[in-house]
Amino acid sequence: MTGLFLATADTEWRARIREAYQGDITGEIRRAPDGLIEYDQEATLREIKEAQPRVVMIGPGLAENFALGLAKRLDNENPEICAVLVTAYEQTLFQNALRAGVRDILSPDASTEEISEVIDRALDTAVRRSNSLNPPSNLPARKSRVIAVVSPKGGAGKTAIATNMGVGMAKQEPGSVVIMDLDVRFGDVGHALRLLPDRTLTDLGHLGADADTTTVKATLTPHPSGLFVLCAPNTPGDADDISNETIAGVIRVLSQEFDYVILDTPAGLDETTLTAMELATDLILVCGTDVASTRSMRKEIEAFDIIGLTTQRRYFVLNRADARVGLEIRDIEGTVGMEVDVAIPSSRSVPLSMNQGSPILESAPRSPVARAYGELANLFLRGPVAAAPSEQAQTTEATITRFRRRKETR
Ligand SMILES: Nc1ncnc2c1ncn2[C@@H]1O[C@H](COP(=O)(O)OP(=O)(O)OP(=O)(O)O)[C@@H](O)[C@H]1O
Ligand SMILES: [Mg+2]
Repeated sequence: MTGLFLATADTEWRARIREAYQGDITGEIRRAPDGLIEYDQEATLREIKEAQPRVVMIGPGLAENFALGLAKRLDNENPEICAVLVTAYEQTLFQNALRAGVRDILSPDASTEEISEVIDRALDTAVRRSNSLNPPSNLPARKSRVIAVVSPKGGAGKTAIATNMGVGMAKQEPGSVVIMDLDVRFGDVGHALRLLPDRTLTDLGHLGADADTTTVKATLTPHPSGLFVLCAPNTPGDADDISNETIAGVIRVLSQEFDYVILDTPAGLDETTLTAMELATDLILVCGTDVASTRSMRKEIEAFDIIGLTTQRRYFVLNRADARVGLEIRDIEGTVGMEVDVAIPSSRSVPLSMNQGSPILESAPRSPVARAYGELANLFLRGPVAAAPSEQAQTTEATITRFRRRKETR
């Protein structure tokens, strides 16, 4: 697969693309002898399939139903190809375009820089999509859960969740859980679990997409709970040498070797996080109770839909769920557009335990916050996680009820 296919009859636009993009360009929509465009969807699709481009740019100058019909067929039949629509922006068209599987919209008046930015972004998306749709054939299929813990804002509680959940799961199924610290610059999973790794992700930087099991396993650090950890580089500068291909290769190997792969990510949607999410089976969306966090979470979820991250199961975790900041849980659920799956209360023991490197699920397993982490772990495990499952199952409900009661008595 290479390059860009231009589905347009507009020769001026073709010349502008040449300025903005130096790679392979194919494709054309022919004009009939009378100058009208021939809207032959089948013929255009055939040409696209022959050319095997990574990105198809649809328009400008095409009828809307032809353009969107083409995008929809591509999305169904060749989901690895990324479609960009070139048309003047209009809200209703924008929504229809997203539904038809279009990944980006470009105005015909866009500057050369904008055009090349959109092309680069679309090519990146196409590479990621094709990586996740066509894993290397030398790896046998295995049903593992790859769980990415994500949030748009920093400090939301991702690392606390990933580490406690990891320990809770490993205690139930020792040796079957691994955490990969994908906060490649400032990752602190190692600190939160008081690990002193001999090897880190830095040692895998040279592998590229061909990561092999022996090398990856030799880089893991064991935790006494039965959990394994692939720690982030010790110095932020080392992160530059770790490509997304390497990260994808390592995640694939880990998912062959472990039943549960937990990916702790940095805040926001950088390329590393996107790569991780594409390979994930489950997303844990972590959000605080303030307006800024909930709005950002809403936008992040909209972005998932736009970029096609739609097949992963989503879990909404409300952290510091009992914080008194003026928002009702119902309001938060309304803004985010999802119901809370697990509510984790605030507790001073969380920062204390992280500073001491001793997960709260081990140091205070019966505390409400530990029970909430256990409840989260239970969502993924085949069996219950700890001694008091009935109490755990009620933790979110109890936290939400406490939260509502407090608000009512104020
Ligand atoms: N439920 C909680 N109650 C009290 N403190 C918490 C809770 N959850 C997390 N914290 C504290 O908030 C801080 C940020 O948590 P954490 O490091 O887990 O967030 P993060 O999302 O991983 O941040 P980053 O985006 O920087 O990686 C830490 O000091 C942690 O101990
Ligand atoms: Mg973190």
